[in-house]
Amino acid sequence: MKQLIIAIDGPAGAGKSTVAKLTAQKLNYNYIDTGAMYRAVAWRALDEKAELSDQAIAALARDLDLQLDYINGTTKVTVAGQDITEAIRTPEVSRLVPKVAQVGEIRKIMLELQRNMAKSGGVVMDGRDIGTHVLPDADIKIFLTASIAERAKRRWLELTEKGYTINLAELETEIAARDKEDSERELAPLIAAPDAVNIDTTQLSIDEAVTKILALARRD
Ligand code: DC
Repeated sequence: MKQLIIAIDGPAGAGKSTVAKLTAQKLNYNYIDTGAMYRAVAWRALDEKAELSDQAIAALARDLDLQLDYINGTTKVTVAGQDITEAIRTPEVSRLVPKVAQVGEIRKIMLELQRNMAKSGGVVMDGRDIGTHVLPDADIKIFLTASIAERAKRRWLELTEKGYTINLAELETEIAARDKEDSERELAPLIAAPDAVNIDTTQLSIDEAVTKILALARRD
């Protein structure tokens, strides 16, 4: 069977990574979490207490010895051999990462890495600009959404389970601000590709969303 390239885009909390991971597992494909790549750059900048100018962060991205390993349903993220899988999910990194993601030089570096990772097919890649910029020739493009209230509730549960005390209303405001930054930035904004299939997960279970994507994959 043909090894497809599946691109999944959408805003934070729409369920992209869970849906993408499960789809990859069912098809026995590799899963590439491109948000983790931008997060790794932001983590590096914070870890090194680097100057937070675009040029300084781009220089860090250029020299980042980044590796993503998708093993047993989990993506292990390492920078220069250091496991930063958990460290890239802190609220501090989440706050800095939209700034990192709007630097043209950084997007160029990431795009090249991402295209290289997908070139042999059999891959599910999720992010914000995969169907529009990174893999415009992907076999299947999905735009996954959900209401802001539902997305905030999901992130709140995720962070609370990790032991963070977070105010739900504040989280909703933060997510709305991040959506705005991601959708209105000049370079590769978050937008559905014209040929993407829209899936709204507000009322949909993870399994139902995955089933829809698998049906598209089996038809291809
Ligand atoms: O999906 P996430 O929350 O881990 O993404 C982190 C940030 O990176 C978010 O601000 C959007 C940005 N991003 C991007 O601009 N392009 C991508 N392909 C993936 C993520």
